[in-house]
Amino acid sequence: MREQQNNGVTRRTFLGLSLVGGATLLAGGPATVFGATASTTPSLATNPTWKLGGDLLVNRLGFGAMRITGDGIWGWPADRANALKVLKRAVELGVNLIDTADAYGPETSELLIAEALHPYPAGLVIATKGGLTRPGPGQWKPDGRPDYLKKCVENSLKRLQLERIDLYQLHRIDPKVPMEESLGALKEMQSAGKIRHVGLSEVAPEEIERARKVLPIVSVQNRYNIADRDWEKTLVYCEKEGLGFMPWSPIGGGRGLKPGEALEAVAKAHHASVFQVALAWLLQRSPVMLPIPGTASLAHLEENVAAAKLKLTPDEWKAIDALAGHS
Ligand SMILES: NC(=O)c1ccc[n+]([C@@H]2O[C@H](COP(=O)([O-])OP(=O)(O)OC[C@H]3O[C@@H](n4cnc5c(N)ncnc54)[C@H](OP(=O)(O)O)[C@@H]3O)[C@@H](O)[C@H]2O)c1
Repeated sequence: MREQQNNGVTRRTFLGLSLVGGATLLAGGPATVFGATASTTPSLATNPTWKLGGDLLVNRLGFGAMRITGDGIWGWPADRANALKVLKRAVELGVNLIDTADAYGPETSELLIAEALHPYPAGLVIATKGGLTRPGPGQWKPDGRPDYLKKCVENSLKRLQLERIDLYQLHRIDPKVPMEESLGALKEMQSAGKIRHVGLSEVAPEEIERARKVLPIVSVQNRYNIADRDWEKTLVYCEKEGLGFMPWSPIGGGRGLKPGEALEAVAKAHHASVFQVALAWLLQRSPVMLPIPGTASLAHLEENVAAAKLKLTPDEWKAIDALAGHS
């Protein structure tokens, strides 16, 4: 299904997108931010950038570096030179928010980022994570013990060749460890100057509130895309509180996207791919939305980055909004 969408629409329509006139393109204008959607005509977010933690200015369309590792997010990729090219190209295209984790590979995603991009260009924000261990390919197991997390931070600093990590995210709350203890360890690392900002992943508003009693939280990374909006309440909370929301699997992840008529019609109207429309829809959904699509393909990367310039009309946006029910 994914390949069909890809071959049938993506390449051709990506080229088309770059030729489309000004009416359908946002030229990265002023960072105007609109609020929540209105009943008939939604006010859609248009800000091309967002200040993470109030001080790290990032282009809202980021890059997820999980897919540049081996199969099962395990080991080195089959084509390591290509992975390095993808990372370099992302930055050339203006991406300055790269998401990774010690668990991706494990370790190989962070190592590839340093190999491709160190010394890092000014303004590049690398967001990493700790607290999920990898017993084997495709397997993930939380570990939120404070001492373990402190070691994770030290090791990520070494692998990424950084003195301070701009955004460190607790990958999962470990059900066996009180969240306050895990976050207490990150607070210590922050006080020691090893972490600039802290974020969370896969959390509900109540958990964010609880975490914020321990230390400031600047972002949340939860699964969210046009077909899966289970974390809608968390997004609304982030918008209200001014926290960045990084939707993972923004174009459906391993499951892909079910195109459907509405999505395909909008894609066709814009000479774009359904993946580009899915990303554009997210970016317009909220000013705090920071999608991090992942790919190991240079062509897909180019296509995804171009989606930041695609502007859906309010009616198109609403037609796609109606595709999935909110929980
Ligand atoms: N916090 C968490 O728990 C968590 C969990 C999962 C992921 N993440 C983060 O979120 C990022 C994104 O998540 P994800 O990789 O699961 O989902 P995704 O970005 O929605 O989807 C990635 C998949 O889509 C394909 N793809 C990408 N661009 C495409 C395009 N233009 N046309 C067709 N196919 C395309 C990729 O394959 P190709 O390589 O062939 O392009 C890959 O299989 C990850 O890199 C990671 O940083 C976080």
